[in-house]
Amino acid sequence: MFPLTLSALRFAPPGRVVLDSVDLTLGGEGISVILGPNGVGKTLLLRLIAGLLPADGGALDWGGTARPDQRLAMVFQQPMMLRLSVFANVEFALRPQALSAAERRQRTAAVLARVGLEHRASECARLLSGGERQRLALARAWAMQPRLLLLDEPTASLDPSATEQVENIIREIRTEGAKVLMTTHNLGQATRLADDIIFLADGRVQEHAPAQRFFARPQSAAARAFLQGELPWRIAFDR
Ligand SMILES: Nc1ncnc2c1ncn2[C@@H]1O[C@H](COP(=O)(O)OP(=O)(O)OP(=O)(O)O)[C@@H](O)[C@H]1O
Ligand SMILES: [Mg+2]
Repeated sequence: MFPLTLSALRFAPPGRVVLDSVDLTLGGEGISVILGPNGVGKTLLLRLIAGLLPADGGALDWGGTARPDQRLAMVFQQPMMLRLSVFANVEFALRPQALSAAERRQRTAAVLARVGLEHRASECARLLSGGERQRLALARAWAMQPRLLLLDEPTASLDPSATEQVENIIREIRTEGAKVLMTTHNLGQATRLADDIIFLADGRVQEHAPAQRFFARPQSAAARAFLQGELPWRIAFDR
């Protein structure tokens, strides 16, 4: 399944070009964070990788084959919950897997405990708060034991404490061996979580670098402008 290689990936709906030519290689470990301005195509890139919509050009290569041979899971910015209990929302997602009902229940209970929602298991999922929903969405993805986890702004609109809880869950999922590819507009989060940064602008990957180096010495003019806009108090970069 890895390395995952995107070559000249293109997405151009009628009359415009969103992703012009995306080249990217991802190994199977760690947390990669996609940064870039609003509307640049970050969510779209995750959806293309998840196979949720077709590209208009270019190719995805999964370690030598055209399709991933292991599970991938995606958590959307506003996860949809079924009008069922917290427990059932996880259990339902496991239906396609070859598990007995007892195994499904056992795995569901285990992930709910790990995200701290076991005591809410019988409540209606739609009544959860934003932070609780994100944790449930992560539990649902985690229960599927994905090799690749795609997360679109997993903590948008969460308070600092809920954000920290979600970040800890993401770290645990990574530690268990899943590759994580995520987007965020929270640069603090990117510095806390990212092993490497993928900076997207003008329909291309402008820069793909270890996180520390990206924040200390962004190489592209576009990345410098982006960081200076986001961190206006920071007037000079290390050389
Ligand atoms: N299925 C689609 N068909 C046509 N255009 C689309 C489709 N999906 C996304 N777009 C367009 O592609 C552009 C990029 O959208 P995308 O949601 O990926 O941006 P983003 O980088 O995630 O932005 P944000 O930071 O605001 O979340 C937008 O202008 C959007 O309208
Ligand atoms: Mg987005």
